[in-house]
Amino acid sequence: MEQKDQIRTNEIKDITETQKQIAYIEKAGIHVQRLKEELGRTPTCCVTTFGCQMNARDSEKLAGILEKAGYLLIEDEGADFVIYNTCTVRDNANQRVYGRLGHLNSLKKQMPHKKIALCGCMMQEPSVIEKIRKSYGFVDLIFGTHNIYKFAELLVQMFESDDMVIDIWKDTDKIVEDLPIERKYSFKSGINIMFGCNNFCSYCIVPYVRGRERSRNPKDIIREIEALVQDGVVEVMLLGQNVNSYGKNLEETMSFAQLLREVEKIKGLKRIRFMTSHPKDLSDELIQVMKESKKICRHLHLPLQSGSTRILQAMNRRYTKEQYLALTEKIRKEIPDISITTDIIVGFPGEEPCDVDETIDVIKKVKYDNAFTFIYSKRTGTPAAAMENQVPEAVVKEGFDRVLKVVQDTAREQVNKLSGQTLEALVEEVNEHDDRLLTGRLSNNTIVHFAGDKSLIGQIVPVYLKECRGFYYFGEI
Ligand code: SAH
Ligand code: SF4
Ligand code: F3S
Repeated sequence: MEQKDQIRTNEIKDITETQKQIAYIEKAGIHVQRLKEELGRTPTCCVTTFGCQMNARDSEKLAGILEKAGYLLIEDEGADFVIYNTCTVRDNANQRVYGRLGHLNSLKKQMPHKKIALCGCMMQEPSVIEKIRKSYGFVDLIFGTHNIYKFAELLVQMFESDDMVIDIWKDTDKIVEDLPIERKYSFKSGINIMFGCNNFCSYCIVPYVRGRERSRNPKDIIREIEALVQDGVVEVMLLGQNVNSYGKNLEETMSFAQLLREVEKIKGLKRIRFMTSHPKDLSDELIQVMKESKKICRHLHLPLQSGSTRILQAMNRRYTKEQYLALTEKIRKEIPDISITTDIIVGFPGEEPCDVDETIDVIKKVKYDNAFTFIYSKRTGTPAAAMENQVPEAVVKEGFDRVLKVVQDTAREQVNKLSGQTLEALVEEVNEHDDRLLTGRLSNNTIVHFAGDKSLIGQIVPVYLKECRGFYYFGEI
């Protein structure tokens, strides 16, 4: 009895928060309208994404609110309002933000009414806030990852204050549904199924800046996807830092495989992708669901990080080299046409050339279709940053080059295997370099370029894979 009452008040609270934020969007709209009258044109805004797919999805939420408030979305930082949605997973992501902020400042000097906002993972680090306060005083608004749903409210505060508005929360258990979202693509969309991460891999800052793991209610997820399909979406990507642990904190627990079964039932939806899978939690049930599914794409991104059991242990990944190999073998046996991609870190503290050899051994055995190879980046506050045996840069570079070479050779070989087949591709865009060509994506995530009319964008068409050019194809409809 008591528990039921608890649920009800929670629901009411959520409804109220959504309504409250919608009221703030209207209020922000009055400020935008005023600016419009001053400028004699519709004010413009630009949302720049620095991070992963989840960061990109957050940007769509920001864009949705800005558009509702009356801004015209453009992809030009000369806009009247510019917001950087930052990432801090590796130091080079941070450096890019600082570098570009200088440029924004010079634009603002020519355009005093210009507003600049910063949000996202980097803003969850106290040292970053200190630095911006001290050296980037021209920034108007800063908020973090936990209170992004309050963006409309913060916009209003920004308009009504002459000082820098800063609002950062340490963590939250709140999930606010049903705020406006402006999608980048009409035919495909990311969907958050969970937020945060509980894994604390020893090199990784994500759990500190995204908070504890919490899953969205399956009903809300299904409802959102149904609405997207009504709106023309044919492909969804279910997003979470570790989708394989989906549902563990729900009142009625549900596995990720069960959620996929429900998503599969949605009529009109053609393709399902997901990101990211942690090897330690990938269940047989998931392999089975993937195998039986007509909609789940033939692609699995399964971050390895290292092939050395000793390093994996220091990374707190909670699997061994042998367990990882056994898992990928099982997946390949059950779903032979699947492509497997991965993430690899080179230069983790204590890594020696023989550990890199182990990583290379796994790459050769698994035969990845693609692997994102990263140089280890020391993140303040993570256990790995305090480890004494940091690897000298020259040694890291040597290992990185060795890994990259093997990754490229195996990927080329793997991707080439489809030559001569005719497979379905979702047409995504006009080719960036040659506007006579379209660019499509196969179920296994491989890219194919082919001649065709742009009216085909958003459709799934059969494409003959004529010629493999390393990591992508040239084909014909
Ligand atoms: N949740 C996902 C990964 C999110 S971060 C997972 O567990 O697989 C994306 C990738 O960035 C990671 O897979 C890892 O390879 C890389 N990465 C994370 N922290 C890093 C660091 N400190 N230095 C270098 N690469 C890192
Ligand atoms: Fe980072 Fe590990 Fe969580 Fe992935 S699973 S976000 S690598 S802590
Ligand atoms: Fe970067 Fe945050 Fe994603 S740190 S990788 S944007 S979760």
